[in-house]
Order: sequence, then structure tokens, then C-alpha cells
Amino acid sequence: MVHQHLIANFKMNLLDSEIRNYVSQLSQSDVLKKPRPVHLKIGLAPSSPYLLSCQAQLSKTSSTLDLYAQNISQATQGAHTGEVSAQQMRDCGAQGSIIGHSERRSLHHETPEILVQKMEALNQFKMRAIYCLGEETTDLSDQNLDQLLKEQVDILRDFPSTQLIIAYEPKWAIGTGREAEPQHIHRVSTYIRQHLVNLYGQERALNIPLLYGGSVNAKNLSPILDLENINGALVGSASLDLDHFIALIELFINANL
Ligand code: PGA
Repeated sequence: MVHQHLIANFKMNLLDSEIRNYVSQLSQSDVLKKPRPVHLKIGLAPSSPYLLSCQAQLSKTSSTLDLYAQNISQATQGAHTGEVSAQQMRDCGAQGSIIGHSERRSLHHETPEILVQKMEALNQFKMRAIYCLGEETTDLSDQNLDQLLKEQVDILRDFPSTQLIIAYEPKWAIGTGREAEPQHIHRVSTYIRQHLVNLYGQERALNIPLLYGGSVNAKNLSPILDLENINGALVGSASLDLDHFIALIELFINANL
């Protein structure tokens, strides 16, 4: 059965004491104390210096939350001042990392070649990739959008499908309060799924979680989760407010029970 994921991307927000409070309150919240089916995964991607405190908080409360890095170096070790390797992230508690987020593609000039190297680094340490893709503007023709998505999916070719989570995040919807319409998400997610079938074969492709991200909040999450090819969400701004994230978790669990 394909896993469903709700993942908070804190981006460059929150300080250590705030994150520790957040994780401790979240792990003691009623919604997380109730048993839930194992295929429903909730994850957090804090800034990397706080992975260890998150991990410590989570083990205190025996909470079953997944921890992710927001980025890793494409190099695996050595003279790369300021970088953090996949293995170091794993050592700090990350099961995987977000890769190819549009902020990294545009602000940090990450090319497809760099993304492939990052995926290889993750694979070397058997870590998951939350691979983000999507278009930058709303004015692409259907044909150009399909071509772009195809190119973005094609670089996954050598990455094991079992370690892969894909997040469709149109750049124009990220942090703008302007989420994509469910019909658009449906069209794109159906195209991505079909292309994953071409790449990995039917059985493996159907087990790759495909998330939506871009201005997700408690008002728009449910219709998005109802879409046939969508298996969860990657949430930025709305996850920074703990009560809002708890509301999203409730909607996520109810949608998948
Ligand atoms: P947003 O960010 O929810 O603030 O739009 C989503 C993301 O960047 O992953």
C-alpha cells in the first residue's frame, strides 16, 4: 500500500527552544497519541542544526514522526566548508532530505546535474529523497508543462523507487497564499504518475508517494487529499503554527482512514 505523508518544511524559521517546544507539544497532542495506521506518516524538516534536538525530543516521547533534512551536500565528505553531507544528516537523525525545492533551484542555482549527485549521495546512505518538482509560472502551455515535468522526472531514473517521495510544488503557489486548483493538481499528478510508470513499471510506480505542496492550509487540504494520485502534502508556512499543523494532521488522518 502506498504510504501517505504529511511533512512540515520549516524552512529557515524557528530557534532551538521554539522547535523543542513545538516537538514536545506536538508529540503529546491527542492527535498523535491516538494509534494510527502505519501507512500514515507525519514528518518534520527543521533547519539542520536542530535535527539532533528534534530527535532527542521525539525519543523522549517515543513519537513516531519522521525527520528530514531540508538539504544535503552533493559531496559525500571532505573539503567542502559549510556543507553538510547526507551521512552527517543521517547521523543527526534525518531519514532523508528534501531535494530540488524550487527555492534551492532558483536561489541557489541547483541544476539537474547537482540534483542527481545529491540523489546519489542519499542513495549511498539508503536515505529517502523528497524530490520537489513543478513549473515556475502559470502561463505554460499544456505541452510545455508536460515536457518540463518529464525532464524533471527523468533525472530520477537511477534512484530506487522505494526511497522516493515526490512533491509536486508549482513555484507560483509556494508561499503566495495562492494554492493550485484541484483540477490542475489532478492533471499534473496524473501525468507525473504515468511518467513514473514509464520509468519504473506499474507496480513500483504506484507505490511512490506523490505529495502536493504550495500554500497548503486547513481550508484547502481536504479536496487536495481526495485526488486520486495525491498521497499527502508538503507544508511550509502553515506548519509553523503548531495549532494549524495539528489541524492539518487531523484532516490528513481523517482523509485516509
Ligand atoms: P508554503 O511552502 O506551504 O509556504 O507554500 C511549501 C514548500 O515550500 O514546501
